Amino acid sequence: MTIVGSSAQAEAKTAVPLGPESWEPGGEPDPLIQREPGLIGAPVSRLDGALKVSGAAPFAADVHLDGMVYASLAFSTIPKGRLTAIDTRAAEEAPGVVLVMTYRNAPRMKPTPLFMTSGRAAGGDDLPVMQDDRIHWNGQPIAVVLAGTLEEADHARSLIRATYEVEESATSFEDARAHARPSSFGGAPLTNESGDAEAALAAAPFSVDLDFRTPYQNHNAIEPHAATVAWDGDELIVHDATQGVTHMAWSLADVFGLEEKQVHVTSPFVGGAFGGKTMWQHHVLGAAASKLAGRPVRIALSREGVYRVVGGRSLTEQRVAIGADTDGHFRALIQTGTVAKTRHNGLPEPFILPARCLYAADNVRLDVQAVELDMLANTFMRAPGEAVGSFALECAIDELSERIEIDPVELRIRNEPDRDPTSGKAFSSRHLVEAFRAGAERFGWANRDPRPGARREGEWLTGMGCATATYPYHRFSGGVARITLTRDGHVEVEIAAHEMGMGTATAQAQVTAERLGVPLESVTVAYGNSSYPGVVLAGGSHQTASIGGAVIAAQRELVAELLKLAGDDSPLAGLEPGEVGGSDGGLCKLDEPGRHESYASILARAQCDELSVEAAAPPPIEMAEWSMHSYGAQFCEVRVNAITGETRVSRFLGSFDCGRILNAKLAASQFRGGIIMGLGLALMEETQFDERKGRIMNPSLAEYHVPVHLDVPEIDVIWTDIPDPHAPMGAHGIGEIGITGVGAAVANAIYNATGTRVRELPITLDKLLGVWA
Ligand code: MOS
Repeated sequence: MTIVGSSAQAEAKTAVPLGPESWEPGGEPDPLIQREPGLIGAPVSRLDGALKVSGAAPFAADVHLDGMVYASLAFSTIPKGRLTAIDTRAAEEAPGVVLVMTYRNAPRMKPTPLFMTSGRAAGGDDLPVMQDDRIHWNGQPIAVVLAGTLEEADHARSLIRATYEVEESATSFEDARAHARPSSFGGAPLTNESGDAEAALAAAPFSVDLDFRTPYQNHNAIEPHAATVAWDGDELIVHDATQGVTHMAWSLADVFGLEEKQVHVTSPFVGGAFGGKTMWQHHVLGAAASKLAGRPVRIALSREGVYRVVGGRSLTEQRVAIGADTDGHFRALIQTGTVAKTRHNGLPEPFILPARCLYAADNVRLDVQAVELDMLANTFMRAPGEAVGSFALECAIDELSERIEIDPVELRIRNEPDRDPTSGKAFSSRHLVEAFRAGAERFGWANRDPRPGARREGEWLTGMGCATATYPYHRFSGGVARITLTRDGHVEVEIAAHEMGMGTATAQAQVTAERLGVPLESVTVAYGNSSYPGVVLAGGSHQTASIGGAVIAAQRELVAELLKLAGDDSPLAGLEPGEVGGSDGGLCKLDEPGRHESYASILARAQCDELSVEAAAPPPIEMAEWSMHSYGAQFCEVRVNAITGETRVSRFLGSFDCGRILNAKLAASQFRGGIIMGLGLALMEETQFDERKGRIMNPSLAEYHVPVHLDVPEIDVIWTDIPDPHAPMGAHGIGEIGITGVGAAVANAIYNATGTRVRELPITLDKLLGVWA
C-alpha cells in the first residue's frame, strides 16, 4: 500500500473538480482522466484480496442455513422426446432423502425469461423448467433429490430410473448445415454488405479464400455454479453466484409469480463467470424444491452438472476471403459462415463483429447464418463472437501478408481506417497503430524470420505470430449509485454490481476517493446485493463504465446537497457546484483552494450524522455518437516439437489500447487472464459433442483441457493509457479483449515455426504430426 499512501498524499494538494456535465457530444472530458500522480491508474492491490486468499470470502455454496438440505440433479440421456416413466421409489426410500422432485410434483412456474428479451431477463433459454414430460436436450434435469447430505442426495439420485420415448432430433451440424438461416443478435441482423465484395475479390491481384472451424466450448469457472436458497413466507432469498443480482431477482420473481422486491439476491463473491453465470435451471429447481420441501436448499452443480445445465460457446464454420492490391490495400473483405444455436436462445455466435470495425476495405460482405440444433442453449462466453471471429479473420490476414510479402504488422497498419468502416462513425479514441508499434518493438518482432520452418533448435521449431485484438466499448442503461457520507469521514458507495475476480470494488474505491478528495481507506464500495440501487450486469466488459457513470452522477448530487448544508457560515458560502472540487477530505473553491471546508465539518455544523444521495447515470448516448472499442495487438512466440507435434507457447505479449487504465495491477491481471483463456482456445479447449445423441462426452476437467501453469509462459502486457474523452473516467472495458486475437496469434506463430496452417481449433498435436520432415 505504499504506492497508494504516497500518491494519496500527493494528490491531496489540488482539488478535483466535479465530473463533466457530460462526456457525451459537446461535453467536457472528465477532469480525472489526466490527473497525475493520483490514485487513478495506481496498482492498488485488491481490497478483498486477504479475504480471498485466507478463505474468508463467502461464496454461494459456503452459506449455511439452519435446516438446509442438499440438492442433486438427475439428467436426461436422450436429446429429444418425452419421459414415459420415471421411477423414483428407491430414491425416495434412500437414507436421508427429504424430497424427490420431478415434473409430476414440481410447482407450476413460468418459463425462464430469455436474456436480452427485456431489461432484466436473465435466462439462458426460455424453456419451461420441469413442467412436463418433454425432453429438449441431452442432459436436461429430470429430477431433483434433496437429502441431509450431498452424498445422500447423490446416492439417491443414482437410483432414479427413467424411460423415454425418443423422437427424431437435430444434433448433427453436418446434417443441419443445409437448413442454415440468416441470424440476428440483439435485434439487429448479423449481416453487412457494401459494394460487390465477390467481384472485387475475383479482380484483386492478391487474395486468400479460406475456411475455418472453431469448436463448441464449455464454461469452466473455478467456482462451479451454486445457489443457497430459502423461502421466508412469500419472500425468496437466494445466495447466488451471478453476474446480475438484479437480473436474477427480477427473473426469479417472473418465474414464481412474485413481485421483484420479494426476491433477495446476494452475490458478494463470484469465482469467475465469463458470461456463464446468468440464470440456468438450477436456480429455478433449487427454489422450487425448497418451496416444496419447506427447507433451505443448497444446489451446487458438479463439474459435470455445469456442462449439462449451463450453455457454452457454439461451434462456428467461417469463410474469410480478402482481396488486396499490390500495396496491401484491401479491396474486398468477406467473412461469412454458419453457427449452431437452439430454438430457445438468442445468441448466434456473432463472429463478424471484429471485421465490422477493424479494417478499411472497399467492398465488404459479412454474414452469420445459424442452424438450430436440439442441444443445451449456447450462451455468452468471454468475447462471444470476437474470440472466434478474430481467429479466422486474423489468420486470413496473416496468410494474405505472406502472399503479398508485406509484414503482417505493416499490412494491418496499411488498412487502418479513419472512420468506422461499417457505421461510418468517427472513432471516439483509437490508437491501435500505436499499440502495434509499441508491442512489436518490445516483443522484438523485427527479429522474426518471415520464412516458415526456418528456425530449429534440436527437436524444436520456433516461430512468431501476431494478431489484432478488439472488443466493443459498452455502457448499459440502468447504472444507479448511492453515496453515503458519514460525519466521521467515511464514504460508502452502494451499487448492485459484481465482483467476479476482476477487482470491481477496488477500482471504484480508487475513483471515488480521488474524486471526493478522501483517502482510499475511507471508501467502501458495497455491491453484489439486489437491494442496492441500479441494474448493472457484469458482462459485455461494461461494468466499470456503467458504475463510473452512476458514481459521477451521485457525486454531483452529493456536492449540491453539501453546498446547501454548508450554508452562509461556511468558507464555501455562495459557491455553485461547478466552482468547487473535492480535496483534503472536503470541498474547496477550485481557483481559491484556501476556501475549504471538510465534509465532517459541514455535516457537524448542520447537525447531520450522515448524508446519503442516489443518482442515475445518463443514458449511454456516447455509443450512438461514436464508434467505441477497445483494441490490442497480440504477439506470440511458440516452440513446436518436430517429433511429437506438441506446441509450447514460449513468449506472449499483449499491447492494449483501452483508454485510461484505472488500476495497473488489476488491468494486467485481466489482460493476462484473457490471454490465458485464449491459449486454451488456441490449443486445448474443445467440447466433444456426440453428433448422434447430442450428448457432451467430456464433461470434466480431466477430458476438457484448459491451460495449467506449465502451459502458460510469462505474459507481458503493456497499454497506451490514452484516455477516451468520451467515456466516463476515460476508460474502455478490459474484461474480454484479452482473449481476442490470441487464437490467431498462436496459429500464425505455429505456421511461422512449422510451415503448417491449421485452420481448425484447437490446434492439438495430432493436427501437426508428421506434416514436415
Ligand atoms: Mo461476458 S461473455 O459479456 O460475461
